[in-house]
Amino acid sequence: NAVKATNIRWHECQIRKIDRQNLLQQKGCVIWITGLSGSGKSTLACALSRELHYRGHLSYVLDGDNLRHGLNRDLSFKAEDRAENIRRVGEVAKLFADAGVICIASLISPYRKDRDACRSLVPQSTFIEVFMDFPLEICEARDPKGLYKLARTGKIKGFTGIDDPYEPPLNCEIVLQPENGKCPSPQTMAEQVISYLQQNGFLH
Ligand code: PPS
Repeated sequence: NAVKATNIRWHECQIRKIDRQNLLQQKGCVIWITGLSGSGKSTLACALSRELHYRGHLSYVLDGDNLRHGLNRDLSFKAEDRAENIRRVGEVAKLFADAGVICIASLISPYRKDRDACRSLVPQSTFIEVFMDFPLEICEARDPKGLYKLARTGKIKGFTGIDDPYEPPLNCEIVLQPENGKCPSPQTMAEQVISYLQQNGFLH
């Protein structure tokens, strides 16, 4: 029951977003990668960041799992804590985008309303939602951290996709899916996202 601050005023600086963007030769934005555990969000985020770096562009990855070691260490996986987790990351992503950085957020972010709330924080068209549309069977078979196994045997409760919901995006900018039953490589997926950025004027 924290008391909200009053008597606070916004302070504008002389150097604006456009000046930072001109310096960096890019447009700040939020690339929001959503999908089940094991769908490859973090791998794509890192591949994308690496590719952008090689092309001379500044990006930064905000990874759900990593942020839960610090900024979000006080939060659980119940729905209201996931909402707060996503809200905080959305606010941080907004700051990075305002700094002119290509901010890559990779979180399960299972609820549509939480993702939409993040979208509404930044200017239209600078929120690029990427859906890792890989079926549960594929993610579960990968099980990189052995968490699905624990969830199936009841050792983890409220695991996304098993006994907790995942709401797929209805209208997102990029959908990544298996092709001919095979998952594209992280490199291929990163290039798909970079094409989107190029076509939409984010990279100068
Ligand atoms: S969320 O839903 O957006 O708040 O989740 P996120 O911050 O991205 O954290 C997901 C990682 O936490 C691990 N983990 C769980 N995921 C889902 N449900 C439950 N109950 C859970 N418990 C632990 C898991 O390693 C997730 O990492 P990824 O990279 O998605 O596999």
